[in-house]
Amino acid sequence: MAAQMIRTAEEGASVLKRGGLLAIPTETVYGLAANAFDEAAVARIFKAKGRPTYDPLILHIADVAALKQLVRNVYPEARMLAEEFWPGPLTLVLPKKEIVPDLVTAGLDTVAIRMPDHPLTLELLGKIDFPLAAPSANPFGYVSPTSAAHVAQQLGGRIDAILDGGTTRVGLESTIIGFPGGRPTLYRYGGLESERIESLIGSLDYVASSSSDPLAPGMLEKHYSPSKKVLLGDPAALAAQLEAPFAILSFRSGFETAAALEVFTLSARGDLHEAAHRLFMGLRRLDALPVEYILAELLPEEGLGRAINDRLRRAAAR
Ligand code: TXA
Ligand code: MG
Repeated sequence: MAAQMIRTAEEGASVLKRGGLLAIPTETVYGLAANAFDEAAVARIFKAKGRPTYDPLILHIADVAALKQLVRNVYPEARMLAEEFWPGPLTLVLPKKEIVPDLVTAGLDTVAIRMPDHPLTLELLGKIDFPLAAPSANPFGYVSPTSAAHVAQQLGGRIDAILDGGTTRVGLESTIIGFPGGRPTLYRYGGLESERIESLIGSLDYVASSSSDPLAPGMLEKHYSPSKKVLLGDPAALAAQLEAPFAILSFRSGFETAAALEVFTLSARGDLHEAAHRLFMGLRRLDALPVEYILAELLPEEGLGRAINDRLRRAAAR
């Protein structure tokens, strides 16, 4: 049965209260949500996504106060970050309380939590008395969905309903910060610029990206991937070496390479926010063309450019 497309927080709350799977809009990407305290419902999230159970989920909460019920220790920097940037594209990884099921955290003694910034989903969270466990609403390893239609195309047959909140504003997953040994550490680049975090709490530690770190599969070397081969570099130079059909994902100026089946420009005026907003839409669009390759250029390593480049590198990894 195809998922029901719904438009009100009321209808969404009733799906969740009876243990259902509901795709929810956030400012970053769509999430695939269930009652985090209902282990059977959480198990269905993993099944619907084809997600390995060693990959922990993010909890979505209604306000900073809800942290108290879920975590043992809120580091001072974590509190500063939550108060400054929530609701918003920032996830905090903190020592969990027993009430959080092990299935949610993949057996870790920490839990990832954020307060999403989308009016419909905030209204929804106000109507339920449990946090929502929600990974991005895509099959494991594929590009995250930034519209209700993307969710319907890929998971429509496996979930109960989709709460349609339009196109997501930010377009990239949240930035994830953990506190191993109490040190604020960047686990994943995302929709909140690391510069803004560092200007509030000082310099971060960085976890080297790894292909096999089970603590943060969002850091898997190959992830966020279209099914076509992604090649990074100067598109014109790459194009000159190719015989097979290809498309181009460019940052600002359109590439006038007649040989490309299509050129998708992230932001004609070179704006990083606009580029982030359009990135996954562009990858999906080019992935659907009869091409063998997607040629993509990297962006400046600053602000959201870091997160965009991170996703492009993972998309290109073999
Ligand atoms: O913007 C977002 O973060 C979206 C929306 C729906 O909120 N969610 C999202 O979830 O991107 P997901 O499951 O696709 O990515 C969550 C990442 C995973 O890579 C996971 O490994 C990491 O968060 N994570 C979750 N719990 C963790 C923990 N306790 N320690 C370290 N990493 C954790
Ligand atoms: Mg994901």
